[in-house]
Amino acid sequence: MNAQELQDRIAAFPYWHYRFDFDEGISTPVHDRSIVNRHEQRRSYFFEPLVRALGGSLQGRRVLDLGCNAGLWSLLALQAGAEFVLGIDGRKIFIEQAELVFEAKEVERDRYRFVLANIFEHEFTESFDVVLCLGLLDHTAKPVSLFELIRQVDASVIVIDTDISRARSSVFEVSNLADPHSVVDYEMVLIPSREAVIELAAQFGFSTVPLAQNMTDYTGMRDYRDQRRLAFICSRGVILEGLGAESRPLAPWWVTAAVNARKARTSPDTSTDASRRNAD
Ligand SMILES: C[S@@+](CC[C@H](N)C(=O)[O-])C[C@H]1O[C@@H](n2cnc3c(N)ncnc32)[C@H](O)[C@@H]1O
Repeated sequence: MNAQELQDRIAAFPYWHYRFDFDEGISTPVHDRSIVNRHEQRRSYFFEPLVRALGGSLQGRRVLDLGCNAGLWSLLALQAGAEFVLGIDGRKIFIEQAELVFEAKEVERDRYRFVLANIFEHEFTESFDVVLCLGLLDHTAKPVSLFELIRQVDASVIVIDTDISRARSSVFEVSNLADPHSVVDYEMVLIPSREAVIELAAQFGFSTVPLAQNMTDYTGMRDYRDQRRLAFICSRGVILEGLGAESRPLAPWWVTAAVNARKARTSPDTSTDASRRNAD
């Protein structure tokens, strides 16, 4: 594909959630620093620890990216050496974006597949080593079905990045998706507390490490800073070493949020959930 065609195809989409950079200075039109910073911080928060914990590469691993959106995490998985990635998303626009990104990056066709489907209606017939469950658990009313699906594909490692309830007990809070356009299954969703994620994973045989935050800049990261979002790495039958575990804060969330903000010397986060739309 030549540069002009790539530019035209990028521009044909009404919006993009991620900045992708291509040859000849071409990129997707995401200039908001809070969005760019958010995904850079997320990458060093949960993706890099995942790769390190698996020995420094995803070589030979088959990765399932649930709710893959435009394919950012699928691409990072392949760049980290994954053998194959299946990305699945319930919205056509995102699957088309992911296809375009991978075509423009000239990723070998036999290393990936993107599927347009509701994950709860798709029949999974392959097995995977690693499941990326990023921004998805908080987008569903079916947390148990989600884990049934993950067990069905025989994964031994799951990365979960999710909004959480600040409740200290093991609960799921009833909520609604902020953006009705993002509904794939139900508008109602169940937001897990930190303990609920750990217990849910344990029910399916996974032990779970809630990841200690390592953000250097909380711009676009107010939900993490305010203890409303957390990432977890769950494993079953494999030993993951070197993961920095978050110890449960003894102080109330607003004290921890203030400490986080001071530690990272952030500028105030001006992003809103609405500005993030449905990216994560
Ligand atoms: C908040 S975004 C997260 C995107 C990406 N995984 C990330 O973390 O950056 C949630 C994505 O999951 C998709 N999604 C939500 N529920 C789904 C379902 N039941 N089946 C397939 N895709 C779903 C949405 O279309 C959206 O692209």
